[in-house]
Amino acid sequence: MTAKTPISRVETLPDRPWTEEMLRESATQFQLLFEHNPHPMWITDLETLRFLAVNDAAIQHYGYSGEEFLAMTLKDISPPEDIPALLESISRPTHGLDRAGTRRHLTKNGTLLEVELTSHTLSFAGRRAALALADDITERRRAERSLKESEEHYRAVVENVADAIVITVDTTPVFANNAFLALHGLVDMSQALGSSLEQLIIPGDAPLVKERMLARQRGDPGASVYEYRIRRTDGDVRTVQASSVAITHKGEPAVLAVLRDITERRHAEAALRRAHEELERGVQERTVELSQAIEILQEQIAERHKAEDHLRRSQEQLHALSTRLLSMLEEERIRIARETHDELGQALTALKIALAWIRQRLPADQKPVQDKADQMAHLIDTTVQAIRRIATELRPRVLDDLGLVAALEWHVREFQDRTGVACAFTRSPEDIVVDPARATTLFRICQEALTNVARHANATRIDLSLTQAGAALCLEVRDDGRGISEEAMADPKSLGLMGMRERVLPWGGDVHIRGIQGRGTVVSVHIPLGKKEAGLSGAPP
Ligand SMILES: Nc1ncnc2c1ncn2[C@@H]1O[C@H](COP(=O)(O)OP(=O)(O)O)[C@@H](O)[C@H]1O
Ligand SMILES: [Mg+2]
Repeated sequence: MTAKTPISRVETLPDRPWTEEMLRESATQFQLLFEHNPHPMWITDLETLRFLAVNDAAIQHYGYSGEEFLAMTLKDISPPEDIPALLESISRPTHGLDRAGTRRHLTKNGTLLEVELTSHTLSFAGRRAALALADDITERRRAERSLKESEEHYRAVVENVADAIVITVDTTPVFANNAFLALHGLVDMSQALGSSLEQLIIPGDAPLVKERMLARQRGDPGASVYEYRIRRTDGDVRTVQASSVAITHKGEPAVLAVLRDITERRHAEAALRRAHEELERGVQERTVELSQAIEILQEQIAERHKAEDHLRRSQEQLHALSTRLLSMLEEERIRIARETHDELGQALTALKIALAWIRQRLPADQKPVQDKADQMAHLIDTTVQAIRRIATELRPRVLDDLGLVAALEWHVREFQDRTGVACAFTRSPEDIVVDPARATTLFRICQEALTNVARHANATRIDLSLTQAGAALCLEVRDDGRGISEEAMADPKSLGLMGMRERVLPWGGDVHIRGIQGRGTVVSVHIPLGKKEAGLSGAPP
């Protein structure tokens, strides 16, 4: 007993000493038994249910002080709903030790306790009393309940999980869930629990599984997840994946294995792998086809490049040839014009002088002969004129003697006289000096342009201008005729226009022709200055 609950309270009830006989019998034993008992103990009056004595453990456990206890009855520590049962059990006549069973009690602070009550009826001062020992089993019950709950949870999980679960001892199943039965095609749990690995697993895989399970049971480290094939009772072979863990079953080392049917997964994986391989093969084939196509394409491109090179080279050769021919033509014209003019002219002049000499010496009466000689002289004059004209047409002397500007002026005047089309020639600056080769080019182009106006334009007026702007010469021939058509410009048979373009090519120049229907045609020629073109001549030697 603690200091808080002195022995006197146990020894005595108010007013009346009650323990004299009892204490006389075994005061020391009772005191030890009652006071130092670790379980709450009390004595109650069976009539009034009043507490007659309580021990220290009761005070500690229930939270009431000794005085409070002695002022209370058993009903005060019972939940109201339990009171009828309490009264009923007390009214039952009992003798000696009575395991009163489980009771619910309330502590002072309202905590509900579950106690296993052992009571003994005794006679006390002529009254019926009960000595009771309360074993608080609240915690034990709570632990039992939670154990039961968790066992129920575990059972629910194991029974309802889709994976097969089996516990084996020395590879023999001692527990299995329904999924395990379903996996193996078994109908009865006894089939599973009595089975051996060899009955369930295909022969090839059984030894390995056995070895793994035993190793796991021994607690050896190693792969805890592995695959093997089982043969179901219907003969179907399935692939399972097992993951196992070492446990204790009824004190024995055992193995808990979770099995999952991965047959479909393996099939799907295999199908996927096949599809992947097929795709890969397809891609490879396509890649080969594609690279072949690319090769062919590259060959074609190379061939086309070769053809283009070839074309370009032959075009360049053609340009060179045409340049050379134009140049030769010009030289030939110069030579023929000079020889015709000079040699034929001289010969005819000599002929005319000789004829005049003969004419003077003819007798006066020889009138018919004199007339013949006069006719001959006249014929020689017209022949000389014809030769001059032919020579000029071949190569106007003025171009070589006085240069481009004078030659153009002369040619324009001559054209106007011949065709009746009004011509105006302007130049800027006044004193343009052009080298003989460019002069020949520009003169010939102008000749062709004017000829075209006369032949095709039906024009009434021509404006011709020669300008030197910056480092280029520009010749423009503008008429007010019908206007050149697009078709004529694009026509490969338009050799005159092509000739114009060919003539400027060696200079890196260009020819622009544009026509507006009914309003005339403009031919503009640009030739850069400075560059010397070796292949061209046009100047007199
Ligand atoms: N000034 C122009 N006005 C209208 N048509 C023209 C003019 N110049 C050229 N053409 C047209 O362009 C064509 C090609 O000219 P060209 O190549 O010189 O060939 P050609 O003079 O021998 O016919 C001519 O047939 C003509 O129809
Ligand atoms: Mg022409």
